[in-house]
Amino acid sequence: MQITSVVNQKGGVGKTSLSVGAAAALAERGCRVLLIDLDPQGHATTEMLGMDEVPPNAPSLAKALTKMWKGPIEELVVPHKRSNIGRGGAFDVIPTSPGMFDLIRRLDQFRVPGWQLARVVQFANYDHVIIDCPPALDVLTNNALAASNGILVPVQPDRTSIRALRLLHDQVAYVEQTVGRPPITYYGIVPGLYRRPISHYAVAALQELHTFDIPVLAHLPLGVVMNEAGAHGTPVTTFAPETIQAVAFREIANTLEWYREQKTTGPVVPAEEEFAFEDFISDVSAARTANDNGARKKLYDFMPKRPRPPQ
Ligand SMILES: Nc1ncnc2c1ncn2[C@@H]1O[C@H](COP(=O)(O)OP(=O)(O)O)[C@@H](O)[C@H]1O
Ligand SMILES: [Mg+2]
Repeated sequence: MQITSVVNQKGGVGKTSLSVGAAAALAERGCRVLLIDLDPQGHATTEMLGMDEVPPNAPSLAKALTKMWKGPIEELVVPHKRSNIGRGGAFDVIPTSPGMFDLIRRLDQFRVPGWQLARVVQFANYDHVIIDCPPALDVLTNNALAASNGILVPVQPDRTSIRALRLLHDQVAYVEQTVGRPPITYYGIVPGLYRRPISHYAVAALQELHTFDIPVLAHLPLGVVMNEAGAHGTPVTTFAPETIQAVAFREIANTLEWYREQKTTGPVVPAEEEFAFEDFISDVSAARTANDNGARKKLYDFMPKRPRPPQ
């Protein structure tokens, strides 16, 4: 199983489009694919795939990551029904859920934030896992990086993207070091969201992207068909299979398959400690919510109030 994160801390650079497009193109060629919508805004789930958020009482990724729910990953997965899927393939999605926004704060309370997502995903049965990351270098993105064999980085050809790429590079190094894992492979940069014919300015920025020691993969220029596909809750490879965007996603799928054959190194997820601090914290907080019933607040009401000094 190869885990790929689609990362860039900038918003609106095409992460979600690339995650959905690459996942769908892999499923189309007969791979078993799991797409994880890790962005609390849930655009992959709702805007691009036309799927529902997980209902509040159901098991969800947010609950799994904070150990409020400990079932098998299969129970978090929803098949996408409107995609072309090759023989033997699958296109499953872990949709966004209520609690994803709050998750960032709760994950930060763990003693070592980093391995939670890897632990949830490690026993899944897929050829490819694609993670659509939020537009931030936060604890969710760190979790995705820790879990991944490699990353895809969508960028727009302009100068701010060059700087963003440098910051991302530092963050990748930071995660490798803090969780102690082998290097994360840069599968490639995916230039996109530029108008055609391409301007001189964009050409210059593209040339600068080539100076990084990272492969530059298929381009995804602007095309209204991307929005139309999203409006139908269908990946563009199924909705408009002949477009340059669909062809580009297939090329990127080829690249990901090539890397899978090379078996790029993934993390070695450490065994949990006998006494897992995060288990303890989540058990205490669950018990407190279950038993408290407002008692704590009432207790405070009974406590003698200290008179306030005159102003
Ligand atoms: N190739 C494209 N052509 C036209 N619109 C696109 C293309 N790729 C993405 N978009 C649109 O641009 C916006 C941002 O893309 P998105 O993939 O959501 O970026 P991110 O996940 O990085 O925020 C979305 O509205 C999306 O539909
Ligand atoms: Mg997005």
